Amino acid sequence: MIELIPLDTVAPDAVERLLDRAFGTDRHGRTAYRLRKGVRAIPALSFAAMDRDVLIGSIQCWPVLFEGDGGDNAPMVLVGPVAVAPERQQGGIGRLLMEASLAAAHEWRLDDAMMLVGDPEYYARFFGFSAERTGGWRLPGPFEPRRLLARGERVPAASGEVRPAQVVPA
Ligand SMILES: CC(C)(COP(=O)(O)OP(=O)(O)OC[C@H]1O[C@@H](n2cnc3c(N)ncnc32)[C@H](O)[C@@H]1OP(=O)(O)O)[C@@H](O)C(=O)NCCC(=O)NCCS
Repeated sequence: MIELIPLDTVAPDAVERLLDRAFGTDRHGRTAYRLRKGVRAIPALSFAAMDRDVLIGSIQCWPVLFEGDGGDNAPMVLVGPVAVAPERQQGGIGRLLMEASLAAAHEWRLDDAMMLVGDPEYYARFFGFSAERTGGWRLPGPFEPRRLLARGERVPAASGEVRPAQVVPA
């Protein structure tokens, strides 16, 4: 039976091994990692999927800040990485993890401005993320515009820079 538990109750090196297997060991160079640098994942929105004692999936969410060129700032939640062990992919575990984080974000009123860098064929299709408002955003590294996705009423449509944030928005 698959159980979701808070990610901070799982050994960090086991999570790192899972991420290496899902994304490859060169994953640290990705732009999304620069948005997480020096920041702690939001514990209430981050989960591990366990099958008995085996870690088979994980999701982490992080606080980021959108700094609008016009001076308007918006705290947002960066979702990801979402990772499922290769031998368990396509079995609904990714969806289970995403739904758990989205439900927790709703509960904590953090769901009105969420973003991620990922495949629209997955994150738009199942979870309502879109690139509609992100056309003017800059990130601290290269990214494919079609993969910069967001979801929520307070997602800024302005131009500006997304950067790591230390403070979880209340
Ligand atoms: C992406 C990932 C989190 C999805 O989780 P999962 O448990 O394998 O997938 P789910 O069972 O929740 O969803 C399966 C459905 O999503 C689709 N899907 C899965 N990953 C997809 C992707 N990257 N792009 C498009 N569709 C995808 C499947 O085709 C399947 O569709 P179907 O129901 O019509 O057959 C997981 O496969 C993973 O960790 N992959 C490695 C990391 C990666 O490549 N991530 C890319 C996205 S950033």
